[in-house]
Amino acid sequence: CGIIGIVSHEPVAGRLVDALKRLEYRGYDSAGIATLEDGVLTRRRAEGKLVNLQRRLEGDPLSGTIGIGHTRWATHGAATEANAHPHMAGKLAIVHNGIIENYRELRAELEADGAVFESQTDTETVAHLVNRELRRGLAPKEAVMAVLGRLEGAFSLAFLFDGEENLLIGARRGSPLAVGEGEGEMFLGSDAIALSPFTDIVRYLEEGDMAVLRHATIEIFDEHGNPVIRPVRRSTGKAFYVDKGNHRHFMQKEIYEQPEVLSHTLGAFVDMTTGRTRIPNGQTLDFSNVRRIALSACGTGYYAALVGRYYLERYARIPCDLDVASEFRYRESPLGDVDLALFVSQSGETADTLASLRYAKGEGLRIASVVNVQESTIARESDVVLPTLAGPEIGVASTKAFTCQLISLAALAIHAGVARGVISPERELELTRSLAEVPRLANEALALEDTVEALSREMATKRHALFLGRGFSYPLAMEGALKLKEISYIHAEGYAAGELKHGPIALIDDTMPVVVIAPHDRSFEKTMSNMQEVAARGGRIILFTDAKGAAGSGSDMASTVVLPDMPEILTPIIYAIPLQMLAYHTAVQMGTDVDQPRNLAKSVTVE
Ligand code: G6P
Repeated sequence: CGIIGIVSHEPVAGRLVDALKRLEYRGYDSAGIATLEDGVLTRRRAEGKLVNLQRRLEGDPLSGTIGIGHTRWATHGAATEANAHPHMAGKLAIVHNGIIENYRELRAELEADGAVFESQTDTETVAHLVNRELRRGLAPKEAVMAVLGRLEGAFSLAFLFDGEENLLIGARRGSPLAVGEGEGEMFLGSDAIALSPFTDIVRYLEEGDMAVLRHATIEIFDEHGNPVIRPVRRSTGKAFYVDKGNHRHFMQKEIYEQPEVLSHTLGAFVDMTTGRTRIPNGQTLDFSNVRRIALSACGTGYYAALVGRYYLERYARIPCDLDVASEFRYRESPLGDVDLALFVSQSGETADTLASLRYAKGEGLRIASVVNVQESTIARESDVVLPTLAGPEIGVASTKAFTCQLISLAALAIHAGVARGVISPERELELTRSLAEVPRLANEALALEDTVEALSREMATKRHALFLGRGFSYPLAMEGALKLKEISYIHAEGYAAGELKHGPIALIDDTMPVVVIAPHDRSFEKTMSNMQEVAARGGRIILFTDAKGAAGSGSDMASTVVLPDMPEILTPIIYAIPLQMLAYHTAVQMGTDVDQPRNLAKSVTVE
């Protein structure tokens, strides 16, 4: 799910593929490019990874100076070459992210009109629609505009036209699209990361915008066809030029970046000289009269929101509701006394989360979002943006964004508690002093890598695993299980430790590792009882705890990983790190594609 387009005087194929490589992190299962060869539309596509496309191009090169490219994450139709983008119809080629929801009706209409389809995709419908307008005599820009009005759903699109060496068209509704200005050449792409080596003059299209790119100009039109100017976001340029440094995978690098990015993120939420919490960037968010908060998010963001709920309820005494975003919107639960909707998203583009945000907005709620990509749609549509400063996260399995979400939510809960008078100024200082220990403790957690790697050797021989935790550790059990299943494909379930006896205990035998997250906190003794239930049935327990917990855990553990002592508020943040490393090393042992696990996409812009 990445788009790139270049209009230039130099051959573009190599740069199209390079840009697609920078978009690889979003996840995909086929890829393709199209250029004009002596004015004639020509494409190369391949199933699977980009190397397959590169090999095809080596055997059969393209030398055009204008082109579009795409990495596809299959939605409608399998990940075959025939379904890979670009799609062509008559005089144009098109690449597309997102979903055209009314494509069935449109396709039926086009087929009745004589169009012959080559693929099962919703995308090809758009190509045929535009081609029909061209045949009716419309110019390319007018043809695209006429068709955009007929499409339902969330998407971004790029168009290349036969015989038009100096014209690229992009359009955006729902999924992000940026345009970049070069010297005598122009670019469009899904994000600034794709465009960063080419230019740092980048503009993001807004909802409903269409852009017309030529060698020397970029024109942007709003949904009514009026010319508009969108602000330039000078991207941090080369900083986006992502590489793995000394690490074998992006995921490992991102795990190791945590001490640093956690301290950056904390600095946005806490004034380190006074120890007082704040809402970043001079914004305000008044919690004093908030009666209830509705949280929602997807995937790892959902588990961060689950920790956020525990924080907000514990430290600010605000009742919270929590839903996965794909349910929140359609559950149509009466929002009653909910005054604030809080969303958590790394990419800021996840379609389910965005739809929930718009629903909450429509219900008149105030909207705050914890977001990592500051230019994203969710950031732009929120009343208050709570930025995580994790930097670009390339590994599909979220690591540093997750812990940055947690530290933001911890600081937010403290801030809310102060506003509501349930946290005294002294207690605020005590809590923020604790948060300031996160970078040091994160480093200490990273030092456990060898211990965790040794455990992963056994984990890699298993087919199933259970993760248990109570209280603050319950969301972590879920996140630990998600990490493991995402990248090692070992089936893993996270449970509240107290739920074990209500079902999953039936699964326990000596082939099922049980990972228990149990710092010596207020729920420790209870979790110990649950562990005894596992041990009594021959289960093999891998315990993540601290020195006190290790001393109090008895002799039934197969393995114990001892973390440093820390205040309770920090345990979700720090305990996440060895769980990430466990998933990482297990996946490495199993030889899976760690940074781009099968079937997963980094940013899911379809509902
Ligand atoms: C995808 C990714 C997950 C991620 C989720 C939510 O499914 O594979 O790793 O947690 O989307 O993404 P967001 O960008 O909204 O946090």
